[in-house]
Amino acid sequence: MSITPLESGLRIRDAIPLRAGDAPVVARAHRSDTYVVHVTDTFAETIARVAELVDGAGVAVVTDTSVEALYGAMLLRGLREAGLDPVLRSLPAGEASKSLARAVDLWHWLADSDLARRDVLLAFGGGVVADLTGWVASAFMRGLPYVNVPTTLLAQVDGALGGKVAVNHPRAKNLIGAFHQPRGVVSDIGLLRSIGGRHLRAGLAEAIKKAVIASPAYWDFIEGQADAILRQDAAALRRLVSSAAAIKTALIERDPYEDDLRRPLNFGHTVGHPLETVTGYGPLLHGEAVAFGMAVEARIAARRGLAAPGLLQRLERLLRRCDLPTRAADLPVPVDGEAVIRAMEKVRHIRAGSLRYVLPVDLGETLIADDVTEEELRTALTECGVRVAG
Ligand SMILES: NC(=O)c1ccc[n+]([C@@H]2O[C@H](COP(=O)([O-])OP(=O)(O)OC[C@H]3O[C@@H](n4cnc5c(N)ncnc54)[C@H](O)[C@@H]3O)[C@@H](O)[C@H]2O)c1
Ligand SMILES: [Zn+2]
Repeated sequence: MSITPLESGLRIRDAIPLRAGDAPVVARAHRSDTYVVHVTDTFAETIARVAELVDGAGVAVVTDTSVEALYGAMLLRGLREAGLDPVLRSLPAGEASKSLARAVDLWHWLADSDLARRDVLLAFGGGVVADLTGWVASAFMRGLPYVNVPTTLLAQVDGALGGKVAVNHPRAKNLIGAFHQPRGVVSDIGLLRSIGGRHLRAGLAEAIKKAVIASPAYWDFIEGQADAILRQDAAALRRLVSSAAAIKTALIERDPYEDDLRRPLNFGHTVGHPLETVTGYGPLLHGEAVAFGMAVEARIAARRGLAAPGLLQRLERLLRRCDLPTRAADLPVPVDGEAVIRAMEKVRHIRAGSLRYVLPVDLGETLIADDVTEEELRTALTECGVRVAG
């Protein structure tokens, strides 16, 4: 192939030869995505980073009603001052917006807008907005770029990173989705001042998860700084968020498209996701479900004699110190153990017959098991105070 730039455009010349034999044709499509995660603490810096990432393109902001009420005007003003001309759509706050119906609604809105193929969606909100916007971006015009500006701790330490985007289905969480990496992430810890203790703690659950599976040093940091984090000390939050980004991106880089489904990052989720499903996506925060899921799964590991002595107790102690649930009585809604087990069977079906558990062995060490029995699960759920029949 030869490409010649001309005044009027490009001249492209090709002479692909006829194939000699009739061996199967091999098609290749490589793609390499790189993006930067910035951690900021002033809104001015956030706008500057976003403007760099958008680079003069059109911007469609997706947010939710609560975030819009708090920061929508400030964001639009900042983007306009940076020379951009944003449009904005906001969704009802909460997990229920991570739905097919909301995605379709956004596609209609985008189709009616002036947005073109190089323009950018800006996900401005928590994990719900990031997951929904990323998925909408992945399909619109076969893939628009999107930038994440996560506004909850959960999204900053987890949801806005990694390119897994999806909406929920009544039968299972994140059932309809894709991999679509963001163009960049700007995590502004200043925006966390308004999130409230319950959401802060839920975010912390995903940080603790990363410490257990992959980083004794991060565990020590969280244990040592838990009080500072909970009172939102800026330096502690900054470290918490940037270290989480470094850990998550390092783990994902090894297998960004999940060719291997045995992923330590799922710790707490084998039980946590079905908990969210059976409680109707809403009353139980994702981070709370993950905290409880970690307690159940660590208990299975301890009962198998896999976990290092004291690991379960240490994990439960840290979760409780952060006021995260480790027992059914701590959950904001009653949980029907049989319904959880049925929802897990649905997941087993989706995963072609196997239900994987990430069992913690020690800090930074996990074992991924396919052979956890329903009996072991029932025992662990019961010990955590969940009522199961028989
Ligand atoms: N894609 C991934 O890899 C990944 C990873 C972890 C979690 N998730 C998903 O993330 C979702 C949970 O994210 P979440 O906990 O951020 O929930 P969320 O997006 O619903 O936000 C929680 C609440 O906080 C409000 N809020 C957001 N920012 C605020 C701010 N700065 N001040 C005050 N209020 C604010 C929102 O309006 C909402 O009511 C789940 O759907 C989960 O599945 C995805
Ligand atoms: Zn999660």
